[in-house]
Amino acid sequence: MRGVTRSTSPLPVTLRDRRPDDLPILSRWLTDPGAEWRRWDAPYFHARTTTQTMQTYVAHLAQTPPDPDEQVIDVDGECVGMVNRSEEPPEGGGWWDLGILIYDPAHWGSGVGTRALGLWVQDTLDWTDAHVLTVTTWSGNERMIRAARRLGFRECCRVREARVVGGVRFDSVRLDLLRSEWEGVQA
Ligand SMILES: CC(C)(COP(=O)(O)OP(=O)(O)OC[C@H]1O[C@@H](n2cnc3c(N)ncnc32)[C@H](O)[C@@H]1OP(=O)(O)O)[C@@H](O)C(=O)NCCC(=O)NCCS
Repeated sequence: MRGVTRSTSPLPVTLRDRRPDDLPILSRWLTDPGAEWRRWDAPYFHARTTTQTMQTYVAHLAQTPPDPDEQVIDVDGECVGMVNRSEEPPEGGGWWDLGILIYDPAHWGSGVGTRALGLWVQDTLDWTDAHVLTVTTWSGNERMIRAARRLGFRECCRVREARVVGGVRFDSVRLDLLRSEWEGVQA
């Protein structure tokens, strides 16, 4: 399936720059070692390393202006997560990898992620010279895989049994989407 073909969220989902009043929310969710999102977003990394990385990241956020490669996911005026992107080297090569994280499980499964990722694809195609976009996850993260597929991403790489989560081996999964395949975000 290519492009967004259905209304994915009844909620008003927007992407915007981070504001100072988002910081307490970001800090609380990102640095909580027991947060549920950690069981889904790269859970194969050691928890202590993730905590340290997040503490450093939050300190960085507090000291830096908003970055166009990171946007807050806003639902009805509330910061519920973030999207980010990074260019795979070399610079100007046209390959960008996208990330998404919705902090509170209460917001999962109601279309917010698909909607936010669709907006992020559009933003990335509008503001970069991306030729191809990727999303990278693991085979246990069905919500992530299905959200990407819903938007037209196709599986392009699967490294079998490469990730260990809770003592069980899962595949590392990457999906891609060409600029030429993108049909735009449904209003
Ligand atoms: C992954 C994430 C962004 C998806 O966003 P979401 O708002 O929860 O997902 P959506 O409601 O848009 O649904 C996406 C798809 O997953 C399906 N889905 C919803 N709940 C599900 C569940 N419990 N199990 C399996 N699939 C589920 C939906 O039906 C939809 O598929 P469809 O379009 O084929 O029907 C969000 O769950 C999240 O941030 N999770 C924690 C962090 C994370 O995993 N980040 C990604 C790291 S790579």
